[in-house]
Amino acid sequence: MILIKNGFVYTIDKKTNRQNSLRSASFNKMDVLIDDNLIVKVANTIDENCETIDAHDKYVFPGFIDLHTHLRDPGQTNKEDIYSGTRAAAKGGWTTVCAMPNTDPVVDNISTVEYLKRKAKDIGACKVLVIGAMTKKSEGKEIAEIANMLESGIIAVSDDGNCIQNTKIMYNVMKYVSKFNIPIIDHCEDYFLSGKGQVNSGRMSTKLGLSGIPALAEEIVISRDIMLSESTGCRLHIAHISTKKSVELIRQAKAKGVKITTEVTPHHLLLNENECVNFDTNTKVKPPLRTQDDVDACLTGLLDGTIDFIATDHAPHSDFEKEKEFSIAPYGINSLETAFAALYSGLVLKDKISLSFLIGKLSTSPAHFLQLNCGAIEEGMAADITISDLQKDICFTPDTMMSKSNNTPYLNKSLKGRITKTICEGNTTWEDRD
Ligand code: DOR
Ligand code: ZN
Repeated sequence: MILIKNGFVYTIDKKTNRQNSLRSASFNKMDVLIDDNLIVKVANTIDENCETIDAHDKYVFPGFIDLHTHLRDPGQTNKEDIYSGTRAAAKGGWTTVCAMPNTDPVVDNISTVEYLKRKAKDIGACKVLVIGAMTKKSEGKEIAEIANMLESGIIAVSDDGNCIQNTKIMYNVMKYVSKFNIPIIDHCEDYFLSGKGQVNSGRMSTKLGLSGIPALAEEIVISRDIMLSESTGCRLHIAHISTKKSVELIRQAKAKGVKITTEVTPHHLLLNENECVNFDTNTKVKPPLRTQDDVDACLTGLLDGTIDFIATDHAPHSDFEKEKEFSIAPYGINSLETAFAALYSGLVLKDKISLSFLIGKLSTSPAHFLQLNCGAIEEGMAADITISDLQKDICFTPDTMMSKSNNTPYLNKSLKGRITKTICEGNTTWEDRD
């Protein structure tokens, strides 16, 4: 047994259900008792003669759950692998991550799903749920063996990184997937419109002389997908939303009763296109960092429930790949380790959102979406717990990153909100020794 004593514990108001918990959670000084892999008691004071963690002056959160993680395993293990990626996750406070299938080979069949599950179980430092591809090799041509992969336990399908351009194929995939109770996760991008775009289309692309990715490239595919979801009844989850109009499209679709959900990344909530001004390739990402107006709209959407939760889109790339001219560097931001401190420093400390709201969007909401037995600190829940010292700074240096890659705009910067301990199913997966 493990007893966590005297921390400020994230507590969901019992009168509201978990989905609507976001405005009704608070922090209360409580003790939490863990037995094996479960939380067995939460009370004002618990006395138990067992291993005790002193959480005095610290905050106790349910472990974070990331729906959008690129672990790069198999095949791109110079960037990341299950060992390093899950350790980066644990250091960032995550206890569950969902692995995107754009690996090499693509996760489009049962044996690759099994490989991931086994490796994660053997050497992972958090739970890894597997997302299967929608089409074979994510080529957007033929439907992948989705029913087989479902038997192996995939939790969603996605061709993330590749967006199916052929509407007839997307329609067929959605019609097929509507038979199963899993969502499709779509990376919405019209490649004819985005072309070789490097940054957001507009002021910054003109200033830097780089080709632009228009907001329309995202919005037009979201519109298409909404119509396809209405027609097929398929659950649709829009990945990494980034524009004001996209937020509005989803707001309207939800109001009409379309089965649609969406996520936003920390970088699209915190950074705008001006970050790209020095050609820092660590700001090059898809979708691109947009205007401040778009950033503000994403925050409004998160606050009013249009955007369901935050997901990292952790997309590690090696130094040798990112240390190139902007126009040939790969797209992607490394995010698992920085996400909480960036969001806490950039939104909570600036009074834009409350701490309990943030934790709801990092844990309770994604747990609800995936119907997992976590996302709350309550009796009977999995013992997935993240402890933070909010007063403490954290600096992200290549020496201290657990990820194999360093491609974050926060590299060598300090932020407030350090994760001091992460517990996954009762096992300590991260412990801060500074
Ligand atoms: O910037 C990105 N990188 N966006 C994506 O959608 C894919 C990701 C990757 O896999 O590198
Ligand atoms: Zn994507």
